[in-house]
Amino acid sequence: MAFRHPVPVDQFHLDGTLRSLRPCGNGHINRTWRAVTDTGAEYLIQLVNTDVFRDMDGLMSNISRVTQHVREKIRLDGGDPDRETMLIVPALDGKLYCMTKEGCYRAYHFIRNAIALEKPRSAEDFYLTARAFGKFQQQLLDFPAAELVEVIPDFHNTPKRLEALRYAATMDVMGRKKDVEAELEFIFARQEFAGTLTRGIASGALPLRVTHNDTKLNNLLFDQETMTPLAVVDLDTVMPGTSLYDFGDGIRYGAATAAEDEMDLSLVSCDLELYEHFVRGWASVCGDTMSLGEKELLHLSPRILTLECGARFLTDYLSGDTYFSTSRPGQNLDRCRTQLKLVADMEEKEAEMLRISKEYLHF
Ligand SMILES: Nc1ncnc2c1ncn2[C@@H]1O[C@H](COP(=O)(O)OP(=O)(O)O)[C@@H](O)[C@H]1O
Ligand SMILES: [Mg+2]
Repeated sequence: MAFRHPVPVDQFHLDGTLRSLRPCGNGHINRTWRAVTDTGAEYLIQLVNTDVFRDMDGLMSNISRVTQHVREKIRLDGGDPDRETMLIVPALDGKLYCMTKEGCYRAYHFIRNAIALEKPRSAEDFYLTARAFGKFQQQLLDFPAAELVEVIPDFHNTPKRLEALRYAATMDVMGRKKDVEAELEFIFARQEFAGTLTRGIASGALPLRVTHNDTKLNNLLFDQETMTPLAVVDLDTVMPGTSLYDFGDGIRYGAATAAEDEMDLSLVSCDLELYEHFVRGWASVCGDTMSLGEKELLHLSPRILTLECGARFLTDYLSGDTYFSTSRPGQNLDRCRTQLKLVADMEEKEAEMLRISKEYLHF
């Protein structure tokens, strides 16, 4: 008898009959299962968070187009497209997802013998992470980025994020503004700086590229045998943007010396050694194709992305913690404070960050 489950596995074009379905992965946005059929075929089934992602047609069309493009590049390169990129399994009605009353499900082929790391085991892992996300950029250099749907409009439009913060502070629906005057002052003192990347895109100094927008280590699958990067996954936030979003956010998250919600700010800084490994990895694959504008602004991008992230946490704190899930009171304010501490630290390290960029990018 077929294995039964509320997850609508039978709505997808699977090879064989479902034998098991187990939760897998620990992403923060979607719920994920690993499905195995009686023919031994394996699939990854996900329940997508449609509160965050409202345009499922646009989102799945982005993923489909981007993965097809990357597949072709891997094939031409003599790689294994089935292991090095994701492959969507369509639903029986031909759609790329399946709507049920629980939400929106989709299926991918499962990439076997691969693992995602939560933390780099060494600086070398961080270097390899930069290379993998840089390679993803390279594979999509000739993709028409402007044709992708902006699944979350103005996702990294930092000035707009600051406007949203100003609005939240004006509304002050929770009466929390009085406790965060120092943080508001810190952020708005950097308003001009916050527009650096948006101005760069507008002037053409930063070419429009396909960006991943969630360049965390756990969105990279490593080959379990060689422990080298295999595939970039979690393509929900693929959108048009500047490559510096991916570089900057990779550093913001990956080179921080403490957790995003650390309460002891003395532990929070940007690790320059890790920064250097990431620049080295990024430069080794993207160096030759980067514009001068991308090179010149590279060292500032982590600071801009970090300021933006701090503003978003503060906006959510002022609005009553409705976007980022929290497990304790004040967590979004703590998250904001770690980001602002990182910004201050990166300001002190600006000259050194620029020196490292110049060393590897030769400009
Ligand atoms: N095609 C795949 N094959 C095998 N494992 C995968 C695949 N895609 C994702 N994973 C694993 O599932 C985890 C969660 O998937 P992800 O798309 O990153 O969800 P979230 O948006 O919730 O972070 C990943 O960190 C990775 O470990
Ligand atoms: Mg993920």
